[in-house]
Amino acid sequence: WPFYLGALLFGYLLGSVPFGLLFTKAAGLGDIRKIGSGNIGTTNVLRTGNKKLAAATLLGDGLKGTAAVLIAARFGPDTAVIAGFGAFLGHLFPVWLKFKGGKGVATYLGILLGLYWPMFLIAALTWIGVAVAFRYSSLSALIMSAVTPVMLYLVFSQFQAAEVFLAMTVLLWAKHHENIGRLLKGQESKIGSKSKAAE
Ligand code: G3P
Repeated sequence: WPFYLGALLFGYLLGSVPFGLLFTKAAGLGDIRKIGSGNIGTTNVLRTGNKKLAAATLLGDGLKGTAAVLIAARFGPDTAVIAGFGAFLGHLFPVWLKFKGGKGVATYLGILLGLYWPMFLIAALTWIGVAVAFRYSSLSALIMSAVTPVMLYLVFSQFQAAEVFLAMTVLLWAKHHENIGRLLKGQESKIGSKSKAAE
């Protein structure tokens, strides 16, 4: 088990790099945690109006999950899953930000890409489809992450991955509790609106 603990820690450290915060700071936009929803993720970086930075955040936060999985996969499939889960925990609870990290959507997708790419394609298309239909980033993430463990289990028979993604979905939903409240009240900000998300 020390090996698995190492994989978890390795994933955690990689996942805890807050790309959205670093990119917006480097671009002189100030502290992203004081803008919009206060989140450090792609959706909130987009609220600064800088699409390139948002795209870079999506890639950074996503590919750190993919990288954790692919690097750890050299030591076996179990290690890959554990490192992926570690990366998710790192993104959500980074030690550098007093454990106040992001909501995990990009990293969730990146880990999925590394672990089981067919489901990544379906999940990404689900996110895009819901976003085109309703224009709420959070709703897209909630639906995408609800579909993923169910399909991994029932359609693809990826039982171990299904369990880990179920745990990640629970954490992702918990991190979106304010978004869920705003969605229910009809106050969630839509993709493309730079307006401050309702507090
Ligand atoms: O990427 C996270 C998204 O689902 C919600 O982000 O900034 O609207 O709370 P935000």
